[in-house]
Amino acid sequence: MRLLSRLLLAALIIAATGARAEDGYDLWLRYRLMSGELLKSYRESAREIVPGTPSATLNVAQSELARGLGGLMGMELPVSAQPTRDGSVIFGTPASSALIARLKLDGAAGGLDRTGNEGYLIRSLGYEGHRVTIIAANADIGVLYGTFHFLRLLQTHQPIEHLDVVSAPRIQRRVLDHWDNLDRTVERGYAGQSIWDWHKLPDYLDPRYTDYARACASLGINGTIPTNVNASPIGLTRPYLQKYASLADVFRPYGVRIYLTARFSAPIESGGLKTADPLDPAVRAWWRAKADEIYALIPDFGGFLVKANSEGQPGPQDYSRTHADGANMLAEAVAPHGGIIMWRAFVYSQNQPDDRAKQAYAEFVPLDGKFRDNVVLQVKNGPIDFQPREPFHPLFGAMPRTPLMLELQITKEYLGFATHLVYLAPLFEETLRSDTYAKGPDSTVAKVIDGSLSGHGPHTTGMAGVANIGSDRNWTGSHFDQANWYAFGRLAWDPALTSADIAAEWVKMTFSIEPAFVAPVVGMMLGSREAAVEYMTPLGLHHQMSRHGHYGPGPWVGGGARADWTSVYFNRADAGGIGFDRTKTGSNAVAQYTPHVAGQFADLKRVPEKYLLWFHHVPWDYRLSSGRTLWDELVIDYTQGVQRVSGMRSTWAGLAAFVDPERYAQVSAFLAIQEKEAKWWRDASIAYFQTFSQRPLPAGYEPPEHDLQYYEALCFPYVPGSAPQPCQ
Ligand code: GCU
Repeated sequence: MRLLSRLLLAALIIAATGARAEDGYDLWLRYRLMSGELLKSYRESAREIVPGTPSATLNVAQSELARGLGGLMGMELPVSAQPTRDGSVIFGTPASSALIARLKLDGAAGGLDRTGNEGYLIRSLGYEGHRVTIIAANADIGVLYGTFHFLRLLQTHQPIEHLDVVSAPRIQRRVLDHWDNLDRTVERGYAGQSIWDWHKLPDYLDPRYTDYARACASLGINGTIPTNVNASPIGLTRPYLQKYASLADVFRPYGVRIYLTARFSAPIESGGLKTADPLDPAVRAWWRAKADEIYALIPDFGGFLVKANSEGQPGPQDYSRTHADGANMLAEAVAPHGGIIMWRAFVYSQNQPDDRAKQAYAEFVPLDGKFRDNVVLQVKNGPIDFQPREPFHPLFGAMPRTPLMLELQITKEYLGFATHLVYLAPLFEETLRSDTYAKGPDSTVAKVIDGSLSGHGPHTTGMAGVANIGSDRNWTGSHFDQANWYAFGRLAWDPALTSADIAAEWVKMTFSIEPAFVAPVVGMMLGSREAAVEYMTPLGLHHQMSRHGHYGPGPWVGGGARADWTSVYFNRADAGGIGFDRTKTGSNAVAQYTPHVAGQFADLKRVPEKYLLWFHHVPWDYRLSSGRTLWDELVIDYTQGVQRVSGMRSTWAGLAAFVDPERYAQVSAFLAIQEKEAKWWRDASIAYFQTFSQRPLPAGYEPPEHDLQYYEALCFPYVPGSAPQPCQ
């Protein structure tokens, strides 16, 4: 009896503090029971659910409402055909709900005329003597998005009595690119195996697929590319198409469409043709037949994503054709079905001696205006490759007659894998707000990709994120990496959101609403990307990681198959200084930016110091705005990065009371790994660059723990996310 009451007491304490065992599976959709005054007011504002005519998507919305409201408020809500009391939540479209049709939500006082196909409005109204909330949209999917928005308001403890929300996505295609292979390995994946259990598909549908679609829908993500851009030709064979079709059936009610990666040489490898020449009639016929076959199985198939003539992948240039020839051939095949081609601009060639940062521009700018309407060029945020910091890609200011979509990397290939706490929204935001000056000031990347700068009428818009999702129980390999999936989705819906607002929302939903927790954790997240830049690649350095697996520092990496896969190619450190001269005296990559931007980047006095060594080769004794020499500043930045991580550790150490022990412990352990590895990056980089600078460390700064030989000798043959590499 005594034991029983002690157990009861413990359960009560756990329920009261919210500190119960959690493994992260529930993501930001935890819907844990609230308490306090607000709960009382919510219980008055949400007392019954009033659906209209059901559909697959509206059923999902209804069960989400029941689950969310039920969980947060600890009660089961009755379902009614009509509002019977104050606190009815009425949801649907004018077509599915006679009540919503009657409310006449068009026109100035309305809003449905502003919400398009996917948007929604949420409004508090008086209806036949009752105070009700409506969640209305033109299409079912908008109702589902609105439902998640409504629940987010409760999860983040916003008032819900006087709502007047109108929301519509600024970007049309909001997609996750999974770099998942058919053997379930994930290229640059740090969260276990692929979530797609190809071997058991199409017959066994893991419930995780539904949970994945639900999480995507909660953010407005409306497309997924389940397979790697380094595509296997087997991926387009009939058995695999059937597997994708079964996934598409699961995803459909959640508004998530499937797209597929296409290997350009598939007509040879799986079609038995002698060529994959895009102008060959037999090749064109093969792709048309393939598209027809896919659409017969997946009627809402989105189209193809293609990596061609890049890093060894086949492409149209193998037949002396252009990227436009290749993309247009595929575009023609999917056009009758309304599909699109996302053609990647991430191309550079080993036969091209010019600066790797310049090659995509050189390839694609001459093709501006030569792509079919249903082709979108998918451009990475920067001209190299998802580095901790890059200036925006010059293509964003240079292709006015071609729809461009932005490709971001959510998986942290270059930012510490799953163990480093690096919140990526500030990186995404930095890109979106970069001003290309393509049409004068305020021609931001966000405006280029959302179509508002378009000089050629409305066109397809899109934003893709390379997914960080895997089979790990917590989906993303670490609890904080969930925030990067979340931030990508939220920014794809509305690129004007701020990193700080997104972080606060996510923390409240994922961990705790307590201000004493939210403020320090948001602070930690907001500073984390800058910390990683500092301990890895300060002042515009880039591509300084170890070879192959990209795990840990490798500023000495040189030689090998191609120069532009080495670190020395990018850091250019020598006795005279460090940095890549991309001005007129060097590769002149600056000239690919519009004159206003180019002028700033090219001028040593005006280039933002965060991009200094990206654009300039600078002497070790060059004075920065701080008054310090470049060498001293580098050492101080590396050190500061490590210190910031130590600060994150101590912040987290004070927050145990707010978090369940499981998640708390994993975050603590990962922060310890991050601190150790940040120090490794700092020490190895300083040890290497000091061999050129030949300068002492600034007073009070500790020398590297080991000598350079020690760091150079470290080797990791088995690194997650890449094929094993024997140590030489
Ligand atoms: C990076 C990454 C590769 C990937 C490539 C791409 O280079 O290391 O694994 O294939 O990007 O975006 O295609």
